Amino acid sequence: MNFELSEEHLMIQKAARDFAQEVLKPGVIERDEYQKFPVEEIKQMGQLGFMGMMVDAKYGGGGMDTISYVLAMEEISKVDASASVAMSVNNSLVCWGLEQFGNEEQKQKYLVPLAKGEIIGAFCLSEPEAGSDATSQKTTAADNGDHYLLNGTKNWITNGSSASVYLVIAQTYPEKGHKGINAFIVERGMPGFVIGPKENKMGIRGSDTHSLMFTDVKVPKENRIGEDGFGFKFAMKTLAGGRIGIASQALGIASGAYELALDYSKERAAFGKKISDHQAIQFKLADMATEIEASRLLCLKAARDKDLHLDYGTSGAMAKLFASRVAMWVTTEAVQVHGGYGFVKEYHVERLMRDAKITQIYEGTTEIQKLVISRSILS
Ligand code: CAA
Repeated sequence: MNFELSEEHLMIQKAARDFAQEVLKPGVIERDEYQKFPVEEIKQMGQLGFMGMMVDAKYGGGGMDTISYVLAMEEISKVDASASVAMSVNNSLVCWGLEQFGNEEQKQKYLVPLAKGEIIGAFCLSEPEAGSDATSQKTTAADNGDHYLLNGTKNWITNGSSASVYLVIAQTYPEKGHKGINAFIVERGMPGFVIGPKENKMGIRGSDTHSLMFTDVKVPKENRIGEDGFGFKFAMKTLAGGRIGIASQALGIASGAYELALDYSKERAAFGKKISDHQAIQFKLADMATEIEASRLLCLKAARDKDLHLDYGTSGAMAKLFASRVAMWVTTEAVQVHGGYGFVKEYHVERLMRDAKITQIYEGTTEIQKLVISRSILS
């Protein structure tokens, strides 16, 4: 077992760290306050190769491994979890899904600009009544000869109003249950496709989350991904990798909060000495550092499993389960270390605490991760 990062990994980590600290940090409080999507920043992330990191260079991607992706996600998430969720969805769900299961024409038309970060994508599975219970899709895609007719509503869609390409999961043959579900590439602007209002969220407020409405949207047959009825497996396989991205986001939120708490503890004095000289704070920092290191190892293990083409469904779910719990706990402790300053926006930790919560909800709740893990260990 080798725990060393390669020179290339260290370079990618540093590039992401520098970008996050220099470009994302200055406007992050304002974007959170006013719910502003980081449009220019995401464009720059595309130019730097962060939006299609694992896509083969022949399709405009960075040709990097999943470990590189975890390292970059951690650094971006330390500062701006709204930017990192856009990055995660584009990389893990949209680009990966298209590269693995799209045909050559779909890859040339959609994957290339997505991987280059010229446009971004969205992944549309959740519905008003189908969140965790993803097989209960109510959105329908009726087979109408040379096209499908798409009808229904999708909820909580990340990159909802900023995306150009939407991967939409819908039911074609309700009598077949999950085997009747298909996945489609839907373009923004297709007649009948309406972007609903933006959600006013507790955290990741810079990320634009919308509901989407489809009314008799004509989706050409050539926009179906994979064989007829492959849509549910497409979604599950894609989400399995997506969970590594969200685990890394949770890791980054935790390590960002920890670093702020560590720095603050060395500056702030109370009872005649720096608060880092008080054992109460030292014990907190020790616990935080240990939990974060365990999260990091789980994220890197899941990434390594994926890079070696081993099963990563379970290790990815374990990483997400653990790292999201740690993110919630560490960010709460980081606010505590900051005392009253932790409760005000300028100190960043309150935002990280609000952002942490979503990592226990999206791409499968904590309970869904436990279901995936327990099924695996009991099978
Ligand atoms: N890979 C491949 N196939 C898989 C799979 C996987 N990881 N997981 C399940 N499947 C297959 C099963 O083998 C089964 O196929 P067969 O019938 O051919 O054997 C089929 O899918 C149905 O599986 P289950 O019977 O296990 O289905 P289920 O309904 O009991 O449970 C679930 C499935 C794990 C609970 C699933 O519904 C799930 O993951 N739910 C959570 C959904 C989710 O993560 N939503 C997030 C939305 S996207 C998002 O949040 C993105 C964002 O914006 C940030």
